[in-house]
Amino acid sequence: MSNYEVNGRLYSAEPKAGQCLRTFLRDLEVFGVKKGCDAGDCGACTVWLDGKPFHSCLVPAFRGEGRKITTIEGLAKNGVMHPIQKAFHDAQAFQCGYCAAGMLMTTASAAFDEAHKADLPHALKGNICRCTGYRSIVDALHGKSNIEEDVAGKACGASLPNPFTDAILTGKARYTMDIAIEGLLHLKVLRSPHAHARIKSIDKTKALAIPGVVAVYIWEDVPRRLYSTALHEDHLVDPDDTYILDNVARFVGQRIAAVVAESEAAAEAGVRALQVEYEILPAVFDPVAAMEPGAPLLHDKNDVVTQNGNIFCTLQGEIGDVTQGFKEADAVHEMTYSTSRVQHVHLETHGSIAYKGEDGRWHVRTSSQGPFPVRTKLAYLMGVPAREIHVFTERVGGGFGGKQEMVSEDLPLFASMKLDGRPVKWEWTREEEFIGATTRHQMTTKVKIGAKKDGTLTALDVHCVSNTGAYGNHASETLAAAMASPIAAYRCANKKGVGHVVYTNMIPGGGFRGYGASQTTYAIECAMDELARLLGIDPFEMRRKNVVKPGDNVESIWKEPGDASFGSYGINECLDIVERELKKGNGVAKPDGEDWAEGTGMALAMLECGPPTEHRSGAEMKLLPDGTYHLACGTSEFGNGTSNAIKQIAASIVGARARDVALVNADTDRTPYDTGTFASTGMVVAGKAVHITAQVMRDDILDFACRHTGVVIDQCRLESDAVVCGNKRITLTELHAAGAKVNHRFTVTRRAYLSPRTIAFNVQGVRLAVHRVTGEVRVLHSVHAADIGRPINPMQCHGQIDGAVAMGYGWALIENMVHDEGHMVNPQLRNCRVPVFADTPHTDVFFASTIDSIGPLGAKSQGECAINPVAPAVANALANATGVRFAHLPFTPDRLFSKLGKSK
Ligand code: FES
Ligand code: FES
Repeated sequence: MSNYEVNGRLYSAEPKAGQCLRTFLRDLEVFGVKKGCDAGDCGACTVWLDGKPFHSCLVPAFRGEGRKITTIEGLAKNGVMHPIQKAFHDAQAFQCGYCAAGMLMTTASAAFDEAHKADLPHALKGNICRCTGYRSIVDALHGKSNIEEDVAGKACGASLPNPFTDAILTGKARYTMDIAIEGLLHLKVLRSPHAHARIKSIDKTKALAIPGVVAVYIWEDVPRRLYSTALHEDHLVDPDDTYILDNVARFVGQRIAAVVAESEAAAEAGVRALQVEYEILPAVFDPVAAMEPGAPLLHDKNDVVTQNGNIFCTLQGEIGDVTQGFKEADAVHEMTYSTSRVQHVHLETHGSIAYKGEDGRWHVRTSSQGPFPVRTKLAYLMGVPAREIHVFTERVGGGFGGKQEMVSEDLPLFASMKLDGRPVKWEWTREEEFIGATTRHQMTTKVKIGAKKDGTLTALDVHCVSNTGAYGNHASETLAAAMASPIAAYRCANKKGVGHVVYTNMIPGGGFRGYGASQTTYAIECAMDELARLLGIDPFEMRRKNVVKPGDNVESIWKEPGDASFGSYGINECLDIVERELKKGNGVAKPDGEDWAEGTGMALAMLECGPPTEHRSGAEMKLLPDGTYHLACGTSEFGNGTSNAIKQIAASIVGARARDVALVNADTDRTPYDTGTFASTGMVVAGKAVHITAQVMRDDILDFACRHTGVVIDQCRLESDAVVCGNKRITLTELHAAGAKVNHRFTVTRRAYLSPRTIAFNVQGVRLAVHRVTGEVRVLHSVHAADIGRPINPMQCHGQIDGAVAMGYGWALIENMVHDEGHMVNPQLRNCRVPVFADTPHTDVFFASTIDSIGPLGAKSQGECAINPVAPAVANALANATGVRFAHLPFTPDRLFSKLGKSK
């Protein structure tokens, strides 16, 4: 045995042959060391060796012998946080918190000196944060505090720190995989190397002969039930077109077989030993080609009902008379725009652990945005009652819609059920995320738009083709979103739209922040700018003239009245803010040299807060014997800040401090039902449920106090720790005790439903410089204004918008999943890229001063829509700078160069 000193403690252990320090430390149950890539790209695994930071996934474990190893757990001394931990605390320099350990170990090291602070693009090049947009991390490094005091009754509207802050910053927070379980088995899958193939045979013999391999499962072993991986309240909105394991592979990366073994290495060896004979089938990758008669069919019509061949569904509609509208137009713009496929890259990959508990039930610990619909699907697939399955999350390391999908829970549960309830873990690699998870739907949108000389729109015609890939999870809902608010955002008497979702042999699309609306917002906002340019009208004026107004029907291409209405209206304020700020400027000049062109662009986005289909959430609140509260709500927390916000809502209503409201969430055993935290529902559904529940709790306390004291209710007032009834003051502890004597439980449960939906707006402004020879783009000034109603926690809202805008820049300028005949050729962070610090411009964020009449305590959704106007604003700025319209995302230097070269 060798000796290793980790955080001052000696361990006698022997690393496995070839083991890296990251997994070795985690084997020692030092779970603060995280995994984002295992390739040296993300920095989540950063530890110190003799005080110097290293990516532990790149360090052979034996190199740690005889050296002082320090991880996030060892940073605080004697319970006192390191100054950088304190700075991250005060600035709240994280959201999901998954990157925080690595960020802290990098920035707290002695090597990270003033020179590093002065050159953060270089100093932070090895650490990725997908949530924050890095602004709050800069605040931390500059010693800025973003938090406010938790004052009783004033929680709503206060920038209160995340309740898990200390746990996250000291490495004590437990994410999905941060648990040691006796007898744990490991699951790995073989993924298809072919875009379309029928499995003729799978020989398990060699795999089963590998020491440690306990089972191999193929399509013949698992329940043959069709389902959809998408999570929604109404399961009918997604086609049941997927099997747990299938005998037909429809995309490169589809699961073919699962190997379960005593160790991860044995499971991987088992996967490599499987011998599969495939019959290669013709494949189709382009959705337009897939719609042609005679194109290879993805799904057997006996299994999956499609509208026509590979066209899963078509949505179309018209209001007014579009043909007549174009006749009346003085200017018409028509162009085809396309948006690219991108991956969520939540830093914590997908993963689940399933086991049989002492209670004889099945437990699934998972990284999910919707434990309740996961439970429903698992029960259906495994053929057991839902009550026998418990699905729960611990801390979740990011989601962005990628975990609105059941992709990692079924196989571990199935294997555990087959293996006497032994715990089975399946943790995805980063490469698996790129080739086997879901992506934003690639869409191609043709827009024809016409207006009068004064800018009044006369006709809008949108034709959209969405490539859903091999499976239809989220296919129709993302198309419905694409054909809804981006079109409804504008007043126009004549609107028409046709949208098709098409199956191809590509990786499946899925839910992704912006959810389909991002794609058509991009196309329509580019088209609006082109039309404004044709008419010689300022882009801001063009929007002001045509954007929907209060009192208008919120109408896309269908006449049927929907449930969306203006609970508040802040678009004009957002337009004014962004225009003002861009005019004012920020003093950042374009680089010297005549090859640099400078341009300014803007775009708006509208969001109906919540999906058009049903969504519900319940909350339960209890007064505890010590006079504090317990809140249970099913909504998930994955860095979106919902848990803090709902505590603040509850605390505000009962006049308490937020820290006096303990929360349990996202647990099918311990919380009321919640459809899931996606589609902008965390605030407007779960928040509403908590709002209603807390109001009933307050009324219940006052009512009981009134009866208990004999003082009329009008003279009873709830304070943070007592009820004042006339001139009597009875503490909540006394009241609870009095209630217990008469079996009054001070426990209330209420549900909330989504409808009606309110409407949020976002406006993005960009000034940038583009180099005509290299295609390099530098963002010089980035401004974002958000109409999110009342910010329940302004610091968190600001952070959500920072993160969404950063993701928008990534989509516009950097992220690029390159496929060749369905094979992703760059499934690594360093090659596919997500924005690192150096890629992420600072954005000035502003809020409209709206208070919503529909959302809880005046709030609306805030984390989703902010991404939508970013890419079109960048495109419009590029057009303004160069006179060239770049219609196809992403605007990588090579693509810009090829077109700018031609334009010279
Ligand atoms: S896990 Fe080591 S750098 Fe990403
Ligand atoms: S907070 Fe940085 S990755 Fe989530």
